[in-house]
Parts: sequence; structure tokens; C-alpha cells
Amino acid sequence: MSEMVIAVSEAGGLGSLPCALLSADQLRSELGMIRRRTSRPININFFCHRPPEVDLKRELLWRERLASYYVELGLDSKAPVPSSSRTAFDSAMCDLVVEFKPEVVSFHFGLPDKKLVSRVKAAGAKILSSATTVDEARWLENEGCDAIIAQGCEAGGHRGMFLTQDLSTQVGTIALVPQVVDAVTVPVIAAGGIADARGIVAAFALGASAVQLGTAYLFCAEAKVGSLHRSALRNANDRRTVLTNVFTGRPARAIINRVVREVGPMSDLAPEFPLAAGALAPLRTNSEAVGSDDFVPMWSGQAARMGRELPAGELTRRLAADVLKKLKALSLS
Ligand SMILES: Cc1cc2nc3c(=O)[nH]c(=O)nc-3n(C[C@H](O)[C@H](O)[C@H](O)COP(=O)(O)O)c2cc1C
Repeated sequence: MSEMVIAVSEAGGLGSLPCALLSADQLRSELGMIRRRTSRPININFFCHRPPEVDLKRELLWRERLASYYVELGLDSKAPVPSSSRTAFDSAMCDLVVEFKPEVVSFHFGLPDKKLVSRVKAAGAKILSSATTVDEARWLENEGCDAIIAQGCEAGGHRGMFLTQDLSTQVGTIALVPQVVDAVTVPVIAAGGIADARGIVAAFALGASAVQLGTAYLFCAEAKVGSLHRSALRNANDRRTVLTNVFTGRPARAIINRVVREVGPMSDLAPEFPLAAGALAPLRTNSEAVGSDDFVPMWSGQAARMGRELPAGELTRRLAADVLKKLKALSLS
């Protein structure tokens, strides 16, 4: 993952390292590699959900819901499943922030407890977090965020929502960004459905100070995307994604595949985040091995069709150059 961060930061963007699936040892090694290869600013990103209590009854219902797939794949539906490796930001991770001093630390699902936030600030990092509503943006500003990522519902991956669970009222980027800009005094970063210079310039027009792109970078060779996911992205169009909780227990935007269609897109049976991923793991491993994407979480935003297969550094430079051209053209017209 460090390759992507290095390429983007070297090209003048802010390369971001997702840490939710990393152990402290893996994070140390990634940060060591990044710091050896670039002296540019970097962002490291953490989930900060409250670790869930295992609800055995719900686990059982989830296993029962998935049992027919276990039978189909010749697996024992009663065998123990791995626990999800998505971890929340904790003091061990914070120690690494203090040691490596990334310029920016971002969070998803709110913020960690105040002591950890203070330690991150004391290490000199600017703090960002995602807001999916104006209330969340105000809350993050009050808690000391240096900038707010306004994540519209077009965005790929997990919704950063943390004060609401109501998916039906989640806001699109074009409506969310200006309302967040009006509500807070810190800079706002627009995210969701932005994949080229047109989207970036539009975000600036809405009052954003910067943009965050996820899906557009999945097309780069540096992205750690499996071949099934990559080919689904290549075939994606504007109507191929949906918000679903079946993969982890929290709503996230992914390409529609069999498990999403048949079990979701939203399931009341999915255990709390990130536990739902446990019982899906053997299904994914075994079906992927025979070339099926039936159980693979293929995160993607709504603008996947606009993806370009370029190296991450080149994509970053091209986006910046295209934005300048577009701004110039607009100022002349
Ligand atoms: C494959 C994928 C993984 C993501 N993982 C994270 C993550 O670990 N942490 C996070 O804060 N946001 C994550 N996001 C969300 C992005 O930070 C960003 O909000 C989103 O990609 C912007 O919308 P776009 O996908 O339309 O560009 C992820 C997005 C994608 C597509």
C-alpha cells in the first residue's frame, strides 16, 4: 500500500495510507518504507468505531442466513470463522503516530477518545475526519478537527456516518459540500463521485478547499485490488453500485454481486461492524479461488466508469494539470 502513498505524495497530492486492516507491526513497516522513499507530507487513516460486543444470537442467525452458501461450496457452516481484522485506532497505533509524525491523520466514523486526539495533535499532525451530514461536520469541528471531509453518498467504501444510522437521508456531494462549508469555519474537503477535473472544479465552486478521490485511484496499478475486483471495476457503470452492510455490518458502497443481491443490500441479520465479515471470509476465500466474485467486497463509488488506468503519480499530475486548464477556460469564458 505504501507504493500508492509514495506515488501520490511525490506527485504533489496527499497520499493516504489506510490502516484499518494493518497490525501495529505492519503499520511500522509501511511507515518506515514510506518515510525512506518520500519526504513529502503523508496522511494515515484509521477507523475509530467502538469495538463491538459479540452477540451470539445474532452471529448464529447470520451463520444460518449464509448456511446454504457453505453447503454449496462444500464448507462446514459450523466450523469456527476468523474474526474480522478491522481494528479501531488505539494507543499502540497512536504510539506509531508519535514516532513517525505523519503530517495528517484522518479518521472514519467520528473521532477516537479525547486523550488519543490530544496525543495525535501533540505529535504535530493535522486531524481530519469524515462527515456525512452538517451535524456531523459541526460535531467534528467542535471536537478539534482541522479540516472536514464532506463525504457524499456517491462515495465508494464505508460511509463515515457516526451520529446517524439513517441511510435513507444520506446526502449527495453537490448538496452536502456547500452546506458543510456554510456550517463550519475549518477547510472542507469534498469526497464522493469525483473522478476527474470536472468534479474537482465543481467541488471548488461549491466552496471545498480540496478533494479526496478514492475510486479513481483503484484503477492504478499501485492499488491493492484483486483481479476479480479490478475486472468488475472495468465493467462498472453508473448503476452498478449500492450501499450495503452485508460485508462488514456497516453501510458501504460496493459493486453489486451475488451476496449483495441475495442477502442485502441491507440486512437486519448482519452482525455489528466489523463482525459480519467473519462468516463471509471462508465463502470469499473459497469462491475467489475458483474465479468467482460472488462474495468479494468490491468497494466502488458511483463514478467508477470514469476511471483511467494510469500510474498513480501520473493520474495525480494529470488531474492537477486538467484542473488548471479547466479553471483557465472558465475564467476566459
Ligand atoms: C476501496 C475503497 C476503500 C476505502 N477505504 C477507506 C478507509 O479505509 N478509510 C476511509 O476513511 N475512507 C475509505 N474510503 C472512502 C474514501 O476515503 C473516500 O471518501 C471515497 O473514496 C470518495 O469517493 P469516491 O470513491 O467516489 O472517490 C474508501 C474508498 C474506497 C473506494
